[in-house]
This record gives sequence, structure tokens and C-alpha cells, in this order.
Amino acid sequence: MRAWHIESFGTLTCSDVPEPVPGPGELLVEVRAVSLNFRDHLMVAGLYNPRLALPLIPGSDCCGVVVGSGDGTSTALGTRVIPSFNSLWVDGPLTDDALTGTLGGPVSGVFAQRIVVPEDSVIVAPEHLTDAEAATLPCAGVTAWRALVTDASVGPGTSVLTLGTGGVSVFAVQLATALGADVAVTSSSDAKLEQMRALGAVHTVNYRSTPKWGRAIRDWRPVDVVVELGGAGTLKQSLSAIKTGGHIALIGVLDGVVTELPLTQILMRAIRVQGVFVGSRADLVALADFLTGHPTVRPVIDHVGGFDDLGAELHKLSAGTHVGKVVLTF
Ligand SMILES: NC(=O)c1ccc[n+]([C@@H]2O[C@H](COP(=O)([O-])OP(=O)(O)OC[C@H]3O[C@@H](n4cnc5c(N)ncnc54)[C@H](OP(=O)(O)O)[C@@H]3O)[C@@H](O)[C@H]2O)c1
Repeated sequence: MRAWHIESFGTLTCSDVPEPVPGPGELLVEVRAVSLNFRDHLMVAGLYNPRLALPLIPGSDCCGVVVGSGDGTSTALGTRVIPSFNSLWVDGPLTDDALTGTLGGPVSGVFAQRIVVPEDSVIVAPEHLTDAEAATLPCAGVTAWRALVTDASVGPGTSVLTLGTGGVSVFAVQLATALGADVAVTSSSDAKLEQMRALGAVHTVNYRSTPKWGRAIRDWRPVDVVVELGGAGTLKQSLSAIKTGGHIALIGVLDGVVTELPLTQILMRAIRVQGVFVGSRADLVALADFLTGHPTVRPVIDHVGGFDDLGAELHKLSAGTHVGKVVLTF
């Protein structure tokens, strides 16, 4: 079978490798579709974890079909499954032990024709979703779900700000809207903001033409929740946008990793800053159930490529021209 490897940082190669063999409690899954994450780009470049053991098959998100199984498993061959991003995080809060269970680094990932995963880490893919749609849930979908629902209990009347129009942010627009929240979103592109309005966003700001977008959001409404995806370059504006007592879901580093924090503003205004590291298998189950109950909320896929397009598509991903998710079907 064929698989993509990071042999050394900055180099992605495709080669023929022996098919993996499922051990006890494991499933052999034929990958049908994968979705790409900004994380994959960072992983290949060596920016995610420079001490990562190589070679590594990258990739965190897929949907596939069970074609083999080890002793002690009960999943029927032919079942369409989605592996959870973190095979060691089943439910509840994240623990140190679970930090090493993440697919696509340090655990061997999904950019391969066949993969082996623990049976207890997969869920059955929602029937109404295509392979490509189902492949978008484990990382971007679950991250937005964890930030909005598990951690911040977003519901009717809540106001939510999310940043940009990439994978996590578009899920946040859709999920928060479906949960009854009022959603604001920023983007560098007026055309993309128009697309976000069509998905339910009620307030939009172009962060290029309005550098003090935090103030512009605050003039609309000091928001209850910010889905923080920019990091160093956006956090001060997010603090300006949020209400006293609000909740910042600290998720992304699209605009830098290191910053000085205005601590007095955070403590005096009682802002809760909650780190998010994707989510548990329970979050994936909850998201899949929610989407099944809200079948009109479909993952937004910018475009679909093929197995051989991985290198070029990851390169394009870092340019940020897409809206929502980029998917490859195998
Ligand atoms: N902690 C976690 O659990 C977790 C999980 C998933 C992702 N992440 C992180 O979250 C971030 C987003 O991931 P993703 O996969 O959704 O990325 P993505 O799909 O690659 O998002 C790209 C988009 O981000 C927007 N963007 C870039 N710089 C921005 C800025 N300064 N302000 C606002 N928007 C900006 C752009 O939107 P416009 O073109 O509209 O301007 C760009 O198109 C990444 O840093 C990723 O590593 C973290």
C-alpha cells in the first residue's frame, strides 16, 4: 500500500510500505477520505514539535471502512468509521497521559491507504454524511464543539465571535448558529464574509480594513465567547471584543505563538481563558449525534483533491485561500 511520510522536517514523501496488521483490540481501516488541518502543515515543517520522532505518517482526520480486525473486536467488516483524534482521551478532562495519543504525531497518522487504530477509539460515521464530510469531524469539528459546547455551554442568546474562515472557524459559525447563538466572524476577505452570512453569521468585520476589529465587535456587542484562532497577533483585539466575565477558547496560533498578556485586564474583568486541545472521543460522539439531529448543518468543503495531491494541497493550505475544509479522497 502507499503512504505519505515525513522523512525529515520540510520533506513529505510518498512510498510503498507493508500493510499494517491489526493486533488484539485493533481494526484495519481502508481510508476513503482525509481532511487537512493547519496542524499537518506545522507538523511537516517541524514547527509543531521539533522533537517529533521521524519518519512519521502525518494526518489526523479520516473516514474509512473496516476491512480487517484483531482478536477481541466486534466491529463488522464494512462498517464506515471515524477514528477519534486522540485514542487515549475517552471522556472528561484532558490528562497528561492522554497527550501522547494524537493521530498524525506522535501516533502514526491517516495519510495512508490503510491504517490500524484501536477499536475503542473509533465511532460509526453518521449515515447521512459523505466520506468527505465525515472526514472533517475529528479535529476541526470536535475542536469547535469542545470550545462552544463542552467548555462554554453556548446556547440561545449567547454571542460568539470566531476568527477567520478556516476549518475550525467555519464549524464554529455553523454550530453556534444551530445552537441559537448570535455569531460574529472576522475575515481578511469581504467575499468570504458574505459566505459566512449565508451560513448564519449576523455580524462580520474585515480584520484587514479594520485593524481595531475588537472595538468594532464591541460596538456591535461585547461578546460572551471568543473562539480564538489567531493567538499572539489577535488576543489583544479579542480581549477588546469580549464582555467582562466572558470566555476565551484559546485554540489557534495562526498569527503567532508568543505574546505579552495584559494580565490586569484579564483578572480585573474576570475573563476566563480556556485552552482547547481538540477533544475527547465523547466530544466526537456528541458532535456526530448533533449533526445527525441537525442534518442541514453540513461540513463546508472548499474543494476535494486526490491522494497524490497532498504535498501541493498542504502548501496551498498555509496560504489560506480556502473556506472551511480541504479534503482528499483516496
Ligand atoms: N488547539 C486545538 O485543539 C486546535 C485544533 C484545530 C486547529 N487548531 C489551530 O487553530 C488554528 C486554525 O486551524 P484551522 O485548521 O481552522 O486553520 P485553517 O483552515 O488553515 O484556517 C486558515 C484561515 O485562518 C484565517 N486567519 C489567518 N490569520 C488570521 C488572523 N490573523 N486573524 C483571523 N483569521 C486569520 C484566514 O481566514 P480569512 O482568509 O478569512 O482571513 C485563513 O484562511 C491553527 O492555528 C491550528 O493550528 C488548534
